[in-house]
Amino acid sequence: MTGPVLAVDQGTSGTKALVICPERGVIGTGFAAVRPRFLPGGLVEVDPAQLYDSVVDAGRRALAEAREPVVALGLANQGETVLAWDPGTGRPLTDALVWQDRRAEPVCVELAPHEDELRQLTGLPVDPYFAAPKMAWIRRNRTREGVVTTSDAWLVHRLTGAYATDAATAGRTQLLDLDRVQWSPRALDLYGLSGERLPDVVDTAGPVGTTTAFGPRIPLTGLIVDQQAALLAQHITEPGGAKCTYGTGAFLLAHTGDTPRRGNSGLVSCVAWRLAGRTAYCLDGQVYTAASAVRWLTDLGVIKGAADLDPVGASVPDSGGVTFVPALAGLAAPWWRGDLRGSLTGLGLDTTPGHVVRALCEGLAAQVVDLADAAASDLGSPLAALRVDGGLTRSTLLMQTQADLLQLPVEVSALPDATALGVGVLARLGAEPGLTVAEALPDWKPAAVYEPRITADEAAERLAAFRRAVAALLDGTPA
Ligand code: G3P
Repeated sequence: MTGPVLAVDQGTSGTKALVICPERGVIGTGFAAVRPRFLPGGLVEVDPAQLYDSVVDAGRRALAEAREPVVALGLANQGETVLAWDPGTGRPLTDALVWQDRRAEPVCVELAPHEDELRQLTGLPVDPYFAAPKMAWIRRNRTREGVVTTSDAWLVHRLTGAYATDAATAGRTQLLDLDRVQWSPRALDLYGLSGERLPDVVDTAGPVGTTTAFGPRIPLTGLIVDQQAALLAQHITEPGGAKCTYGTGAFLLAHTGDTPRRGNSGLVSCVAWRLAGRTAYCLDGQVYTAASAVRWLTDLGVIKGAADLDPVGASVPDSGGVTFVPALAGLAAPWWRGDLRGSLTGLGLDTTPGHVVRALCEGLAAQVVDLADAAASDLGSPLAALRVDGGLTRSTLLMQTQADLLQLPVEVSALPDATALGVGVLARLGAEPGLTVAEALPDWKPAAVYEPRITADEAAERLAAFRRAVAALLDGTPA
């Protein structure tokens, strides 16, 4: 069945919906904000009703703008956000613990002796970022009733009545056997979750159910976790390429082919997508706070918002010796020190908001460089370029800093909403059996390419300053 599709990206800070026509591209857009609560002790939670309402609201807006019927729906989700809910009524039994939430740390401390086994089995390190520690925490501390799942399974159930999660999202739990792409009885046992009723693990494209939540009856035919959707939209469908999405966090993913690659560099090994039963894998590295760090600076009153990064950063020629490790929710790959917090050093009476903004851009970009280096080392070959997407790619300062520090071209996606584009492709694949990925992907060309403007020596010097600040955090000593 050919025709426009409704592609919905349910993210941490909001839901974006696009109506995408195979011939004319995006013909409708909608957005609805989501407001997670940031609480003391690294707690981040959100009212599940906000997630569902934002999906319906953004989807309806996009459809109203497009004023054309759609043949299929695709839904991307935030990955490791977890809640308990009643499968009889669909009613949430807890708030959703957002992927950034750190409260499951004690669960992870208990599981530390099984770290190697779990990493081998699931591709993931033991860290509260993933879904399983949060699921175990909810079972121990909140409720033993209903089911406890990632947010996608709840949204899918509310939309269609099906009880399903896709293979890529399941791969973010630490309960999926990475080689078999099935729930792992051993991982479930280690987490004390053996008796749980878990959703069916389905392909990332294919019929899941139908929904009338947006008005007309629409088949749901695409499901995936958001970062992997962006990987697909960036045409990284063969081993060797990498993309980074600058959203609430920043996530660098590299395709590794049809067998999982468990590297030594600290990156996560996981499912990219599963199509007609065939699984593609990827490596994934995370910066937990990207737009979150920009929001934090905004809340402090240093800038008025993300649109201020460029003008405020342009008020000074450099960061004036200020170094910012924006680990405001801890450090993920390759360090896996979620317990750490950020640092801002080298401040003087002459430090201005411009210096802090530049230091933030450098800090974000330097973390992405470390992830790109780790991916290149696991892939066994250097990256030729980095494809980027997400809201923060609108900042020329951040993108130029990224190219400078990476010493590679940074190719900006023409559409910042690559995640929605990717799940739209999956929805089409699921609705049109026989269509190939190459046929379903719209042409790719960058909106801009940033080339490095500083020498390799200068980049190395600036990276060294950042790495000294990270080392100081890791050692617990001031930089
Ligand atoms: O792992 C969490 C991540 O996928 C969330 O993405 O776009 O909400 O930052 P985003």
